[in-house]
Amino acid sequence: MRANEIFAAEQKRINTFLSQQLDNLCSEQSTLRNSVAYALLAGGKRIRPLLVYATCDAYGLPYSQADYIAAAIEMIHTYSLIHDDLPCMDDDNLRRGRPTCHIAFNEATAVLAGDALQAIAFEVLAQTPCQPKQIVKLIQIMAKACGLNGMAGGQSLDLEAENRQVSLAQLQKIHAAKTGALLTACVDMVAVLVKIEDQSDHLHQFAQHFGIAFQIIDDVLDVTAETKTLGKPSGSDQGLNKSTYPNLMGLDGAQKEAKKHIKLCFKHLNNLSRNHEKLHKLTNFVLDRTH
Ligand code: IPE
Ligand code: IPE
Ligand code: MG
Ligand code: MG
Ligand code: MG
Repeated sequence: MRANEIFAAEQKRINTFLSQQLDNLCSEQSTLRNSVAYALLAGGKRIRPLLVYATCDAYGLPYSQADYIAAAIEMIHTYSLIHDDLPCMDDDNLRRGRPTCHIAFNEATAVLAGDALQAIAFEVLAQTPCQPKQIVKLIQIMAKACGLNGMAGGQSLDLEAENRQVSLAQLQKIHAAKTGALLTACVDMVAVLVKIEDQSDHLHQFAQHFGIAFQIIDDVLDVTAETKTLGKPSGSDQGLNKSTYPNLMGLDGAQKEAKKHIKLCFKHLNNLSRNHEKLHKLTNFVLDRTH
């Protein structure tokens, strides 16, 4: 099942919003702006915005209050993909079905496109229609999710784990940081708007397992899916001798491990005492996805 079949309206909403935000922030054409638009508006499943909206749905928060959060996190994610594909990192030439940013432009432009996306993400996030105190919290959560113990930290550990055998605990830590941190920030930021103060609650824990499962399936698809379906090079992890779940425990083991985390997602969702139908559907999508 494709996310765009279940969440067509939300995907359209975020795509329109991202495009509007880019126009608002910078109407002048330039190489850098074109490279940012190329990477940001190229498609992608928009899982992080969908997670933001599905959380809004559970808590009765209007999507219009969370658009800025959804857009900001997608900007950070896109920046992480541009840098992830660079020759000094995973050295991939295809992303979202098109040449990667550094191939379509050049390496320096791709580095700067990532830098610019990171900055404009915070510019957009700061426009969230809420109290100033809440904006400070949103910025703190997103900064933490991107930084030393979040996405960037996880990416660094991922690179260090190439050509090495790591333990399951270490690999889970890498996946939780490089991918889980941003996904967890999606729900934590909505929690700020609906004033759930306790970040150790079931919503937060749900998202942590969602993030780990999402990256395990990414690792699995790298082995099982074709480049054409993925829109990025299949077998990239094997080529780089990455530490992945299929590498550590085989394909079956990795799939079982993903299912274990999805089961934990459902456990925490059931404890939410909210109508979590959309969160439930998005969680099922993590296992069922084909790309
Ligand atoms: C790919 O993310 C990189 C990971 C963190 C697993 P997605 O699978 O969400 O990529 P897009 O945004 O749909 O292209
Ligand atoms: C990337 O993980 C996670 C990021 C923070 C971008 P991967 O390197 O496995 O992502 P893909 O497979 O290239 O999308
Ligand atoms: Mg990588
Ligand atoms: Mg990669
Ligand atoms: Mg991957």
